[in-house]
Amino acid sequence: LINPFKKPDGQFAINARKGSKLVNFKRISKEQRAKAKESTAVAGTQLGNLLGLKESHEKREEDTTQHTTFENTPEDIESTRRSLPAFKVRSDLLTMIRDNQISIIIGETGSGKTTQLAQYLYEDGFCSGGRLIGITQPRRVAAMSVANRVALEMNVQLGEEVGYSIRFEDYTSPKTRLKFMTDGILLRETLLDPELEKYGCIIIDEAHERSLNTDIMIGILRNLLVKRRDLKLIVTSATMNAAKFSEFFGNAPQFTIPGRTYPVDIIYSKNLVNDYVEAAVTEAVKIHLSNKISSGDILIFMTGQEDIEVCMDLIKEKLTEVYSKKFGISKFEEISDLEIFPLYSALPPALQNKIFRKLDDSRRKIVIATNIAETSLTIDGIRYVVDCGYSKLKVYNPRIGLDSLAITPISRANANQRSGRAGRTSTGVAYRLYTEETLETEMYVSTIPELQRTSLQNTILLLKSLGVKDVLSFPLMDSPPLQTLLASLYDLWLINAIDNFGNLTSLGKLMSKFPLQPSLARILITASYNDCSEEMLTIVSMLSVPQVFQRPKQREKEADLARSKFFVPGSDHLTLLNVYSQWKQNKFSSQWCTKNFVQYRAMCKAHDIREQLVKIMGKNKVLLTSSGTDWTIVKKCICSGFAHQAAKLSGLGKYVHMKTGMDVQLHPTSTLFGLGDPPSYVVYNELLMTSKEYICCVTAVDPFWLVESGPLLYGIRRIDDDSSYHQSFALMQHKTGNDHAREKRQRDDIEREIN
Ligand code: CDP
Ligand code: MG
Repeated sequence: LINPFKKPDGQFAINARKGSKLVNFKRISKEQRAKAKESTAVAGTQLGNLLGLKESHEKREEDTTQHTTFENTPEDIESTRRSLPAFKVRSDLLTMIRDNQISIIIGETGSGKTTQLAQYLYEDGFCSGGRLIGITQPRRVAAMSVANRVALEMNVQLGEEVGYSIRFEDYTSPKTRLKFMTDGILLRETLLDPELEKYGCIIIDEAHERSLNTDIMIGILRNLLVKRRDLKLIVTSATMNAAKFSEFFGNAPQFTIPGRTYPVDIIYSKNLVNDYVEAAVTEAVKIHLSNKISSGDILIFMTGQEDIEVCMDLIKEKLTEVYSKKFGISKFEEISDLEIFPLYSALPPALQNKIFRKLDDSRRKIVIATNIAETSLTIDGIRYVVDCGYSKLKVYNPRIGLDSLAITPISRANANQRSGRAGRTSTGVAYRLYTEETLETEMYVSTIPELQRTSLQNTILLLKSLGVKDVLSFPLMDSPPLQTLLASLYDLWLINAIDNFGNLTSLGKLMSKFPLQPSLARILITASYNDCSEEMLTIVSMLSVPQVFQRPKQREKEADLARSKFFVPGSDHLTLLNVYSQWKQNKFSSQWCTKNFVQYRAMCKAHDIREQLVKIMGKNKVLLTSSGTDWTIVKKCICSGFAHQAAKLSGLGKYVHMKTGMDVQLHPTSTLFGLGDPPSYVVYNELLMTSKEYICCVTAVDPFWLVESGPLLYGIRRIDDDSSYHQSFALMQHKTGNDHAREKRQRDDIEREIN
């Protein structure tokens, strides 16, 4: 077993990254930005002149500013469906699926695997006896978006014949025959119905992504298919990795959907890029100004919502500058030849659908997306790709025992997929914001499967609940690093989910009923016994939705002031609770949200999640209890739940992680950020690694609580007998020496058990 993050030089890649040439996330300074603006403005003007941009723009100004988009008519839809590569081999595909229990289907992105396969089966009468076709997606957005598209193509209401189900959101009904869902949902369904009886066919889509849940689901299915001979399995994959799936299923037949792609010119950055957002902006503006609008749209790959928003603002800023010099416009909205769309997972569904609409020929689309647009979603009409070279990945470092979100260099396979987006309908150009040398020396050939880079707590808990005693013998395409497996078993043991012999405890069983991380499930259960599950439920629900505070441009100060009114001193968790409580007092009003710069949609989502968790608690007899106005109890409970994620003040605004000794900082969004008198001990909800290690959503805690709640982790030592109360805490630390020896013995027990 090889640790995937271990580079040949013995360093861990995630850490090595920091010293790497690739990573240097300097945010551009004001002066730099002004300078960059100037140079683009000049370049833009020259290019504009060159291309006769002026005339075309002026001509367009006569048009109304009302933008028209082509809506999909049934005829349009039908002809699009017929033009897809999958359609040409429709009957071959159906024959293959009819003749085999397992089929592996390979095709370029955009060939119609996701949207067409299930429809072909449906049209062929597969569902006539009431059987369901389940299609899994590694990403929530993809499940939602393709279900929408397929419902449109089949001309049915979403939620009827075609539905989708993602965590905390179920759009299906008894009529549903085509059910799109995340791979995680299907996994949870196997807990309730191990034989997946209602399904006649399962399509594991995007299998090449090798998401953790997909890999586990594939293992479960391999066992299940022997028992259920009538169940069909289709595994679909983009062109990489396909042979491996076939091998895993005893050389199952493969079918490649023929399809042509056009050559894509790849242009590397000549020098190392300091700020990929800035570089992407410059590149996109240049492409837009130097190529005819009708030549095609631009797709920019960024790492996440924050980058995407900054990138979008900067493009608007720069283009407004150029256009204002040339045509005297004063704001971006007056520019009529371009529309910019963000695409990331937390984007409201209504906005997601807009991205797929075709614009008229006088306007160019710029889509700024996360790696969702790599293979899961295909946007037609892309001719230019700008690839920043990074993506945000969940990584687990077994050495320090922590999961974190890290901005990581993409792999060469990702880079190829990204470039490929430019050559779907004609030749294209891909601008890579990294050098060719970087690609060759610093990027892995393909992405490490999630199974080998994240914590396995959830998975182990789930497998154990499914009755898999020996996790190591479970069929998997690749083995997870033993170190990760052991560390995850240890963490589960620490929170009492498994006993010394690796068996699920009754608490562990209860935890597995919640669609939450084990530690959050446990916090809910503990809160119930400590008279504060009502409050904790709200906190957990609020933690499950993206950012609830709004910070619109030009109104930042107002928004910050509004936000600060919700602050509960020393706790981001309680601040979230406070927002929810006030919203509730104001009858869940949307006006109240707008007035207070709170995202109404996110709040409704949290409310919805809360309701669902209440149901699960009720079903499992976890009582709803309330602490009333005493929020100290809640804080204590937060401390006990996050005791393994604690940090100690180590200097001016700096903290050190108590379990690992790693330097961490408060995230600027925290209530505690910038306080003159920062608390000595905190626990946090999430670790974010970018250029620095940030702890997000933080609560100040009393060190005695830490000792109480994590006796296996923490102890108090006195320096000498007359040291003061406070000094004595200064030495409180993660246990060493004898304590570790004891823990190691207990860990060995577990290890023996699983071996
Ligand atoms: O799964 P695969 O990558 O093979 O292709 P697909 O997702 O089935 O996409 C087939 C076609 O449907 C593409 O041309 C997409 O642009 C289109 N599509 C769409 O218009 N709207 C969606 N929400 C999803 C796909
Ligand atoms: Mg697909």
